[in-house]
Amino acid sequence: MRLTNLLRTMVSAFLLLLSAGAFAQTGEDGYDLWLRYRPLEAGLQARYGRAATELVATGRSATVEAAAAELERGLSGLLGRPLPRTARIGKDGAILLGTPASTPAIAAMKLPLDRVGAEGFVIRSTRIGGRDVIVIAANQDIGLLYGAFRLLRLVQTGAAPEGLDIVDAPKAKLRLLNHWDNLDRTVERGYAGFSLWDWHKLPDYLDPRYTDYARANASIGINGTVLTNVNANAEVLTAPYLEKVKALAGVFRPYGIRVYLTARFSAPIEIGGLKTADPLDPAVRAWWRAKADEIYRTIPDFGGFLVKANSEGQPGPQDYKRNHADGANMLADAVKPHGGVVMWRAFVYAADNREDRAKQAYSEFKPLDGHFRDNVIVQVKNGAIDFQPREPFHPLFGAMPKTPLVMEFQITKEYLGFATHLAYLGTMWEEVLRADTGHGGTVARVVDGSLHHYPVSGLAGVANIGNDRNWTGSHFDQANWYAFGRLAWDPDASARTIAADWARMTFSNEDGFVRPTVDVMMASHQAVVDYMTPLGLHHLMATGHHYGPGPWVNDLGRPDWNPTYYHRADAQGIGFDRTRSGSDAVSQYAPSVARIFADPKRVPEDLLLWFHHLPWDHRMASGRSLWDELVLRYGRGVAEVRRMRATWESLRPFVDPRRHADVAAFLRIQEKEAIWWRDASVAYFRSINRLPLPPGAPEPAMSLDAYKALSFPHAPGNPS
Ligand code: GCU
Repeated sequence: MRLTNLLRTMVSAFLLLLSAGAFAQTGEDGYDLWLRYRPLEAGLQARYGRAATELVATGRSATVEAAAAELERGLSGLLGRPLPRTARIGKDGAILLGTPASTPAIAAMKLPLDRVGAEGFVIRSTRIGGRDVIVIAANQDIGLLYGAFRLLRLVQTGAAPEGLDIVDAPKAKLRLLNHWDNLDRTVERGYAGFSLWDWHKLPDYLDPRYTDYARANASIGINGTVLTNVNANAEVLTAPYLEKVKALAGVFRPYGIRVYLTARFSAPIEIGGLKTADPLDPAVRAWWRAKADEIYRTIPDFGGFLVKANSEGQPGPQDYKRNHADGANMLADAVKPHGGVVMWRAFVYAADNREDRAKQAYSEFKPLDGHFRDNVIVQVKNGAIDFQPREPFHPLFGAMPKTPLVMEFQITKEYLGFATHLAYLGTMWEEVLRADTGHGGTVARVVDGSLHHYPVSGLAGVANIGNDRNWTGSHFDQANWYAFGRLAWDPDASARTIAADWARMTFSNEDGFVRPTVDVMMASHQAVVDYMTPLGLHHLMATGHHYGPGPWVNDLGRPDWNPTYYHRADAQGIGFDRTRSGSDAVSQYAPSVARIFADPKRVPEDLLLWFHHLPWDHRMASGRSLWDELVLRYGRGVAEVRRMRATWESLRPFVDPRRHADVAAFLRIQEKEAIWWRDASVAYFRSINRLPLPPGAPEPAMSLDAYKALSFPHAPGNPS
């Protein structure tokens, strides 16, 4: 027995050494994302090897080419031998890719293609003429590409090749990335280098990376990309830039990805030579119509405009005493003849408005429900403030039955530790999407369009992509790009399943790796909430760049830019009263939801101080006082990061050295910064309430003044 154990240990040590050697040669640096296609383990390789000896793809479009090329690339990597393309099924197993129109064998199969629309697909293992065949079928070529990527995911994650029977289609129509990329290649809230779009070299030089970007997006079902920052520059709408946009659109088109641009509302003045941008002025309307005509002449499948107007200093219709519907409709009329849409953002809050900032978007947009053209979609952030570590869902979801809505999630982690903190956002988005609006369905049902029968709606994610070699600035932030796409395709998908698929494809298929890694990912968002803004606190980050804690900041130009506006801590208590005795933001929710949020005993503890101002000695469910609980939550967040570090350390045998070291180094930074958040926050709140720390809680490492004195003028993501 002992001997067997010894032998086992020796064998695994030997295998480890071997694999470390193999890792050293693979040069894994994260560029390949979840599309690494490294060889499968031998057993699975043999089974798939029998089922897939050749590829039969009869369609001829660029999209079919992309699908076939991906299958060749993927399966030859996974199976360790080439996948030849042939004209018809030979004597061994084959993959057959086609639409009923391109492939008579598929037309003859009576597959349930009526259920999958234009973008869906069917994958089925079957027999044709006595041969084993895996069929990928769709109504349109883009469905074939999505089906090809799905088959590759199945192979990568170790699904058995026998008995495949998948019928799938996206639930949401618009699945978009929003790049906050400037024309000088800086990226607002970008933590992964500079913009991918090399405007200076476009249109003549097409960086091969554009194709890899398109592949990665198509693999998760993204079907549109807004190339430019919402804080827009009108120049992108000039003819030379449109030529550059056209070049990018040409690369993305075979992958089913349309391009969109942000439209600066004052463009008619800035690049059109007009004196006004008043949306009701005939000359302004004519200018936008002509501009839209020019864009569509250049890019016939242009998606449309995304607009940030009358928000944080951006121009908009209110500059001319018009409302948001006037502005949106004017642009909608311009793109309508070409089939374009206008995504008008609801992220508005005004300098001169004393109303609780959390209420302003609803107050502005709810009365406009029913006043927008049918090609206007209002784009709403997941919560009513601004991508905080945790927010209740935005009250506009469910409240705009006559206006299609797009959900705006932020993939880039502006308020969640930038690229260095490991925070898997799948759980946060799942929580929002599954929230019951109280208007007859969940948030997911609103954004997939089914609750209010929207003709078009969907999800947009503010991208975390830059020109860093690993795309997202950290290996684990790739998971957020991935999870966003998967949830946009299916807003009911499970964050845990998505995390597991990602971990398998990105790192290792071994259960010994996948289980602990998924556990780390699933706990990570809550950890950040705990060490930054526990119990419903929000907007306590330092000024401008939002790097690190600044709960003491109270001197900014507008009240609602100050953290003190949000936490309202004084000697007696803490929190923002949004019940009827306070700002009454709760009443913007459906009554069934408002009742829960308004009740300090029923509101989820993680939203307690979002909705309630409570005395420091308020009794929590744990029996502890609010103050003690708050301090313990900060500590819980730090403890979780330490656990994450230890787990990652134990996973060293499964991960190539470079990526393992990268993640380990970032986790060290995360631990340091989690402690910083905890200590600075506790030191500050203690200076307000003068209460002792609960037993066992560590003393802050530095004085409050020392935390206040820290300054980071060059923190990333904050181009001026
Ligand atoms: C936040 C963010 C800004 C961004 C804005 C928006 O305020 O800090 O950089 O422009 O959101 O979503 O428009």
